[in-house]
Amino acid sequence: MSTLQHVAIIMDGNGRWAKSRHLPRLAGHKAGAKAVERAIKAAQKNKISFLTLYAFSSENWSRPQEEIDGLMKLLSDSLIQYTQTAKKENIRLWVSGERDPLPAALLTQLDQSVQETAQNTGLTLNLALNYGARQEIIHAVNAAHAAGEKNLTPEMLRRYFYHPQLPDPELIIRTSGEERLSNFLLWQAAYSEFYFTPVLWPDFDEHEFEEALAAYAARQRRFGGI
Ligand code: FPP
Repeated sequence: MSTLQHVAIIMDGNGRWAKSRHLPRLAGHKAGAKAVERAIKAAQKNKISFLTLYAFSSENWSRPQEEIDGLMKLLSDSLIQYTQTAKKENIRLWVSGERDPLPAALLTQLDQSVQETAQNTGLTLNLALNYGARQEIIHAVNAAHAAGEKNLTPEMLRRYFYHPQLPDPELIIRTSGEERLSNFLLWQAAYSEFYFTPVLWPDFDEHEFEEALAAYAARQRRFGGI
């Protein structure tokens, strides 16, 4: 089995989970935040080094303002609460995405959480927040150009990604039955294995996480070879 260092998850289905219970969409996101804690525990238990979670895409701004405001507050509140756990459990927090136009209060909290956990050596939790893969690639190309780089190679471009030290994810999970990448880690997914499950994100638990790892372990990765 190939080693599994980095798992990335597209957490989808919060809205449908809430709708099926006749609850507001935000209740689905709140239940989703609990599933985030379970996924982090499962990643730690299974000795995963990097866990990237797609928390808010650059396309999510087209949602109703009320839902966006609720999500931003939930992210802020979860961060405040979760930073304490991260400090105790040696978790390092990273963020991938564009800062603008995230609310100032959330940015301040993000900076604080990143700084307070920067020296930790356990799981790296990479929150993809206002993230879009095309935006990340354009950001890298512009930064490389500004630095005077010529004749770019893939290895050179990688140095300008949001986190050059982040290894490519060996496994990408998407919940809720959707089977799309939705502008997530397009470059880094070149050789990733994909695992799709009909389970809605708020119902995703340690067992589901381990099912995904088992499916990955059963696959043979050839990287274009034979
Ligand atoms: C997708 O479900 C989920 C999101 C757009 C947001 C993800 C956010 C969380 C899980 C909440 C908290 C996160 C952290 C990191 C604490 P959807 O709303 O697109 O669901 P639908 O497709 O059923 O409508």
